[in-house]
Parts: sequence; C-alpha cells; structure tokens
Amino acid sequence: MPFNIAVSGKGGTGKTTFSSLIVRSLIHSGKKPILAIDADADGNLAEALGLNGIKTVGEVLEEMEQKISQFPPGFSKDDWLEAKLAEVMVEERGFDFLSMGRGEGPGCYCYVNSVLRRIMDNLENSYTYLVMDNAAGMEHLSRRTTREADILFLISDHSLKGVQSGARIAGLAKELELDVKTMGFVINRVPGEIDPLIVQKVEATGLAILGSIPEDDQIGRFDIEGRSLLELPEDNKVVRAVTQIVEKIL
Ligand SMILES: Nc1ncnc2c1ncn2[C@@H]1O[C@H](COP(=O)(O)OP(=O)(O)O)[C@@H](O)[C@H]1O
Ligand SMILES: [Mg+2]
Repeated sequence: MPFNIAVSGKGGTGKTTFSSLIVRSLIHSGKKPILAIDADADGNLAEALGLNGIKTVGEVLEEMEQKISQFPPGFSKDDWLEAKLAEVMVEERGFDFLSMGRGEGPGCYCYVNSVLRRIMDNLENSYTYLVMDNAAGMEHLSRRTTREADILFLISDHSLKGVQSGARIAGLAKELELDVKTMGFVINRVPGEIDPLIVQKVEATGLAILGSIPEDDQIGRFDIEGRSLLELPEDNKVVRAVTQIVEKIL
C-alpha cells in the first residue's frame, strides 16, 4: 500500500502549487516510486510539473464512447480500457503521472471515477507514494475518488472563506466516514505570521494547522511564465516550507 497524500480545499488557494511541490520534495529526498494524479477535471498539475500535451483518462473514455459501436461482440471493454489507460500513464524522471481529465456526457463522471478506482487498486502496489491533487469543493469526496488517505491536506489561503471551505470538506469527510488517517490545514500565502483570527477559526474546527506557506512573488512569476515548479530554486521560501511539511508527516 502506498502512502496516500490527498490535497483538497477551496479553488485558487494553492492545491496544485502545494501538490507539485510535495512531488518535488519527495523526489529530492529520494522517496520513490511516486505517482502524481491530477483528479481535477479543470486541473493543471501537469503544467506545474512541467508536462505538456498529456492525454487524460477522460479522453480515453471519450474515444471508447465513439468506438464502442465498432467493437466486435464479446469484445471486452475493460481489456480495451486497460490497454488504453497504460498509454495515458506518463513516466517522468523521478515520478509517474496520470491525469483524470473530463468525462463527456451525463453520468460519465461516475464511470471515470470507477475507472480511477480500478486503476488505483491495480497500481497501488507499484508505488510507495501517491499524491492526488483534487478539484475544488467536495465532489471528490462524495464521488469517493478519495476513499482513503494517509493524510488529507486542507489547503486554505490566508482568509476566513478558505478556512470555512476547508472545514466543510473536513465535515463531509467525517460524515462519509472516509478512511482518512490524518487531516489538517495548510495555510497558504501567509503574509508574515498567520493572523491570530485565522488561527482561532482553525482551532474552532478542531483540526490542526499542519503548516504554513508564505506568499512569494517567484511562484507568481513561474505561473505567468508557465514554468514548471520543479525548476524553482531550492532556497525558494515556498519550496522550503513545503519540504518542512513533508518532512514532518513522513
Ligand atoms: N504561496 C504562494 N505565493 C504566491 N502565489 C501563490 C502561492 N500559492 C499559490 N499561488 C498562486 O495562486 C494561484 C492559484 O494557485 P493554485 O495552486 O493553482 O490553486 P488551486 O489548485 O487550489 O486552484 C496561482 O496563480 C499560483 O501561482
Ligand atoms: Mg488546481
């Protein structure tokens, strides 16, 4: 069983930035093999990790929808899918990558998710670390793509709304009785120290602050220039903060 790291939280709070820097940290400390999964249909974890032109699981499913009428009788949809899905697995230096993408048509998400679950079940034993960047909101919980996690990071920016979103996600995770061993907040884009009011709001949720990440101009620069966050210098303060969080949990 891999050590399963899930990242969730309100949109735009830094889930993808954090996820990619977790991957970076794991690579740098020689922790492998790693599988990074972009489970956000509108996600950009690939770009953050310097990958371009990635085919997604959603695209494979779309292709299947189009070709299914031409499949001969008795042809196994599952075998076809499995072979195709092997093609969407990206093997990079230091980590593997899989993008879920978007499913077309009604009900298709459920299928994507059941496919994802099957992939995960098959892959589980091939990896030591799993890093999953989830969509904003709670869909991944109610659709149960996050069924279990060793750690679920609730990313919030330095705002009340961010903390409230994180708290809602935490509440749903508990309600659904997901098998999450540790759950806690990471406060991102902190200007200096975390404001005592934010600390208070988090404390009121009963969850811990597992770490904080400073606001940093270089992150914004890389974003605008479309550069991989794996290329950030080692002494970047966000890189250092994420490394500290990773060291604390592993
Ligand atoms: N610590 C930070 N300092 C400065 N900018 C940040 C920081 N973390 C994230 N950002 C910026 O905030 C935006 C949203 O981040 P992103 O990781 O894409 O969020 P999410 O995946 O939660 O939607 C991006 O433009 C990113 O560059
Ligand atoms: Mg994102």
